[in-house]
Amino acid sequence: MPDVFIPREERHGEKRVAATPETVKRLSTKGFTLHVEQGAGVGAGYADADYAAAGAALIGEPERAWASTDVVLCVNTPPAESLGRLKAGALLAGLLSPYGAEPMVQTLNSRGVSAFALELLPRISRAQSMDVLSSQANIAGYKAVLLAAAALDRYMPMLMTAAGTIQPARALILGAGVAGLQALATARRLGAVVYVSDVRAAAKEQVESLGGRFLAPPEQQEAPAESGGYAKAASEAFLAAQRQQLAEQLAQADMVICTAQVPGRRAPLLIDESMLDGMRPGSVVVDLAVAQGGNCACTQPGTTVDRNGVQLVGGDGLPSSVANHASALYARNLAALLEHVVSDTAAEAFALDLEDPIVAGCLLTHGGACRLPEIVSTTIKEVVS
Ligand code: NAI
Repeated sequence: MPDVFIPREERHGEKRVAATPETVKRLSTKGFTLHVEQGAGVGAGYADADYAAAGAALIGEPERAWASTDVVLCVNTPPAESLGRLKAGALLAGLLSPYGAEPMVQTLNSRGVSAFALELLPRISRAQSMDVLSSQANIAGYKAVLLAAAALDRYMPMLMTAAGTIQPARALILGAGVAGLQALATARRLGAVVYVSDVRAAAKEQVESLGGRFLAPPEQQEAPAESGGYAKAASEAFLAAQRQQLAEQLAQADMVICTAQVPGRRAPLLIDESMLDGMRPGSVVVDLAVAQGGNCACTQPGTTVDRNGVQLVGGDGLPSSVANHASALYARNLAALLEHVVSDTAAEAFALDLEDPIVAGCLLTHGGACRLPEIVSTTIKEVVS
C-alpha cells in the first residue's frame, strides 16, 4: 500500500494544506496509507485530531517521512533540503513553479522523483476535477473583489435612500479567465456595474452570460493568438493600443481587478503610471498578476500602496487567505490526480502511463530525466515580445 506524506507548508504566510480529513479518508479507502505532519492543517482550520480520526498517522519528525514515503502531496515547492531527502523513485505533486526551475529539477532528477507540476495540468474536461489552477483562481477572483470593496470609499450597489440615490460602483476587470469571471460574478452580486476586457473572442459570451459588459480588444492591431484556451503573449504594439483603449475606462472605474496572464510569461502591463494619474482618488486596483510582474504599474506583492489616493493592492497569495475552502478544494484536486495516476495501489511499483495526456502534460521529471525541458528553460522574467 503506497504511503502518502502531507508535510506542513514552509512558505512564509502559506496557510493551505494539501490534504484534509475528508481526502485522508477518501484516499485511505482507495488503499493509500496517509501520514500527516503535526500541525500541517492548523492554518487552514483542520486539527491534528481530525486527521487522526480520519485515519492518518501524525508525524512529529518530518525528516524521516520525507525519506521513506512513496508519495508526497504539497501546496508549494518544498525546500531543496526536503526534496533532496525524497525516497528514490517517489512521486511528488504540487504547485512546483516549474518555469526556470532548473535547480529544483536537478534535485528531483538526482532522486529519480516523478514530479507533477500542477500548473501544467492540461485544461481538458477529463482533468477538471484535478484542476488546482481553476479551484484556486476562483477563490482569488472572489477575494479580490471583497478586498476592493473593503478598501473602496463608495457603496457597491445602487441605493435609493431618503437622502437621495447612490449610483452603483463601476468595476473594470482585466482578463476573463477563471479568476476574472469569478470576480465579475462576485462584483455583480454586490451590485456593481462590471466591464471586462479580454483578448480571447470566446470570453465575450462568458462575460455577457454573467451580466458583464465586454470590452473587445482594439481592432487596429492583431489580437494575440490562442493555444489550448490560453492567450499567447501580445505584441508591444497591441498592448500600447489596449492601454489607450483602457485609459478612458480607468478614469471612470471605482475598482479594477487585474487578472490578465499569459502562462510562463511576464503578465501584460495594461495600466501604466499615466493611466493611474487619470484615476479617481478613492478608487482601488487589486492586481492578481502582481507576482508575474503585474498588470498594473506600481503594485507590489503582498502590500497596498497608496498612490495619490488610489489604493493599489498587490493581490498575491489570496487563496491562502481563504485557507479552509482553498485547502478543501485543492486537496480534492490532488486526491483526484493521485487516484488517476496510481489506480493500482496493490502494485509493487508505480506504473505511470506516460502516454496519458494528463500525465504527459504535467509530469515534470521522471526516472532521472526532465520531461518538459522547454518549460524549465523558460523564465517568467522574459519580456513580452
Ligand atoms: P490565465 O490565468 O492564464 O489568464 C487569465 C485571462 O487573461 C485569460 O482569459 C487570458 O485570455 C487573459 N489575457 C491575457 N492577456 C490579456 C490582455 N492583454 N488583455 C486582457 N486579457 C488578457 O487564464 P485561466 O483563468 O487559467 O484560463 C485559461 C483558459 O482555460 C480559459 O480559456 C479558460 O476558460 C480555460 N479553462 C478551461 C478549463 C477546462 O476546460 N477544464 C478549466 C479552466 C479554464
